[in-house]
Amino acid sequence: MKYRGFHCRWLVVFALGSTQLLSSSIKAQDAFRDPTKPLDVRVNDLLSKLTLEEKIGFIHSASKFSTAGVPRLGVPPLWMSDGPHGVREEIGPDSWNPAGRTDDFATAMPVGICLAATWDPEMARLSGLTIGQEALVRGKNIMLGPGVNIMRTPLNGRNFEYLGEDPYLASRMAVGFIEGEQSQGVASCVKHYAGNDQETKRNSIDVQMDDRTLHEIYLPPFKAAIKEAKAWSVMGAYNLFRGVHCCENPFLINQLLKHDWGFQGLVMSDWGGVHSTAGAVNGGLDLEMGTNGRYERNFLANPYIDGLKKGLFSQKALDDKVARVLRVLIATHALDTKPTGSINTRQHQTNARTIAEEGIVLLKNATSLLPLDSGQVHSIAVIGSDANTKFAYGGQSSGIKAFYEVPALEGILRRLGDKATVTYSPGYAIPRRQWRPSAQPRPATPSSDAIRLMDQAVEAAKRADVAIVVAGLNHDYDTEGSDRPDMKLPAGQDELIRRVAAANPKTVVVLVSGSPIELSRWISAVPSVLEAWYGGSEGGNAVARVLFGDVNPSGKLPCTFPIRDEDTPTSHFQSYPGANGIEKYSEGLLVGYRWYDTKNIDPQFPFGFGLSYTRFAYDRLSVKGEDLPTELSFDCSNAGNRDGAEVVQIYVHPVHPKVMRPDQELKAFKKVALIPNEKEAVVLPVEPSWFTYYDPAKEGWVLEPGDYEIRVGSSSRDIRLRTVVHVKQSGVYPD
Ligand code: GLC
Repeated sequence: MKYRGFHCRWLVVFALGSTQLLSSSIKAQDAFRDPTKPLDVRVNDLLSKLTLEEKIGFIHSASKFSTAGVPRLGVPPLWMSDGPHGVREEIGPDSWNPAGRTDDFATAMPVGICLAATWDPEMARLSGLTIGQEALVRGKNIMLGPGVNIMRTPLNGRNFEYLGEDPYLASRMAVGFIEGEQSQGVASCVKHYAGNDQETKRNSIDVQMDDRTLHEIYLPPFKAAIKEAKAWSVMGAYNLFRGVHCCENPFLINQLLKHDWGFQGLVMSDWGGVHSTAGAVNGGLDLEMGTNGRYERNFLANPYIDGLKKGLFSQKALDDKVARVLRVLIATHALDTKPTGSINTRQHQTNARTIAEEGIVLLKNATSLLPLDSGQVHSIAVIGSDANTKFAYGGQSSGIKAFYEVPALEGILRRLGDKATVTYSPGYAIPRRQWRPSAQPRPATPSSDAIRLMDQAVEAAKRADVAIVVAGLNHDYDTEGSDRPDMKLPAGQDELIRRVAAANPKTVVVLVSGSPIELSRWISAVPSVLEAWYGGSEGGNAVARVLFGDVNPSGKLPCTFPIRDEDTPTSHFQSYPGANGIEKYSEGLLVGYRWYDTKNIDPQFPFGFGLSYTRFAYDRLSVKGEDLPTELSFDCSNAGNRDGAEVVQIYVHPVHPKVMRPDQELKAFKKVALIPNEKEAVVLPVEPSWFTYYDPAKEGWVLEPGDYEIRVGSSSRDIRLRTVVHVKQSGVYPD
């Protein structure tokens, strides 16, 4: 029986239902089946044909990842799957155990933070499109991603899934991803709405922030996903927001999402994120996912029917929920001939590698040790268990059962062939984390095994021309369900790196992580450092191609790497992980570089930072337009001798703001590919939003007259050109 995304039992029911009943109740001219009819005509026609029980069947889970369908009418269930990095293996259908299938592999795309590090919305589009094509093959209507929660603390376990610390960058990447994925006829599900910026106590923490912080920092990626990319679905978060669970929150769902932003798709809960029937019904939730046991006992199942029959809830509200689900069902071709999609093609593999390559950030290359010349390097010591580890399956819901995954060691071996002798030493072993990090003080003295591993690695480094230490974390640290205990490298890696660098001056460190790491203990001793994130199926090939110069690294940090945990805003305010069940966002707008730049705190590596094997020059900055500028232009040229790409970044600094404003904020960026000596005249439209701030009293974006310095930079701390514009006009722009 060809597996088309239905679970076996559904297929049997569906087949029986279809054959026996189809002829009796389907009339060929049913409008809902006619793809030439407008979407809402089809939705309303189908809605009019449903019984109460059939309507209810569409608004709560009927398996781990589906609704019910209506066999009587030949309407299939709505099928969904995680997640942001590819199509997850089949789960359940009624448990969290893998279904044990052999036809549910997928391409593991680079994780969200790696995608964000490309600073290239076209890469986001490519990732979404690739996943969308694979979702079609696997029979999915909705893919549960992208995750767009802001990196408020480097310790959030799910930072690896998300798009960094800046709302503008996260918005651009989210829009690209969703447009790519939905272009394939598969619905995206932007998550987790809203304020799910930590995993600690994620089901119960009550997130409290002021309105400016909400509108300027945490809403923008969701708003862009809905208003620009037209995302078909949104996933409510587990946490509370201002005392009300996100999945039952009238302010977040009914007011902001559906009224202010005009959202026409469906809002689903995170799995088990619903806590009451009335809360879900009146709070605007459309689809309850997850279950506390039997599906008919879901809050939006029998208890909702009972409430309707008692007149506690309106039929109108029910029909709106069902209509939203049917809209997504029909928009994703559930009733039409679906696009066929594709999976694990050479193109998908190339897409995965290209994104991983573009996401690699060159943090240091002081002696130009990189790129390595495979003709000159005859022996390489590859060190680190992360070099020989596959990560794609980890991290919980975003994990992928990949057709294959190339770790860094394998990528280097493949790239070099017999050109050089490669030795491998694990160097360290990251112990499984106990889930109560506080109960697990870090071992002061390394074990004898750890010492042996380290000694072996140092010896190997001594004997090689070049030592490559692949250091980092894993999905015990970068994971859903728990946060990191600190920003440190576990398992004595700092000591290992120091000793290897002392043994071999030609040492490269390749970091594999999904979030910032403390580097201060060895960064000065190592000539070259890359951040490669979790690069997915092709991650190791991407690392090798950058190390040997086949690709010139062009990634930029989507998040600040602080020198120490104590420098972070959440440490300063002691506002993480919350107290007495409440998480006060006391740092307000000052998240990430907004904090470090406003407080003049030097980071290890700043937001937007990333080096290249070539150099870029900037000049001839000019601004067009009277009063409010309309256009910014400048030249960016490749002043080195290698092809490369630069991400030019535009920050705006209000010179004398009347209200509290971060020192500077990212307002535009562009990735510019240049061959040696090539110059591009970069021209960017200037938007009023470059200068406005959100005013809760006016429920809009205020343009305040005054001086604004426009900064053009290679990173937030490497400003190459600047000019001050004198804005005379004032005004309020609608939200
Ligand atoms: C999880 C995650 C969510 C995921 C869902 C289904 O709890 O929070 O991101 O999509 O459940 O696996």
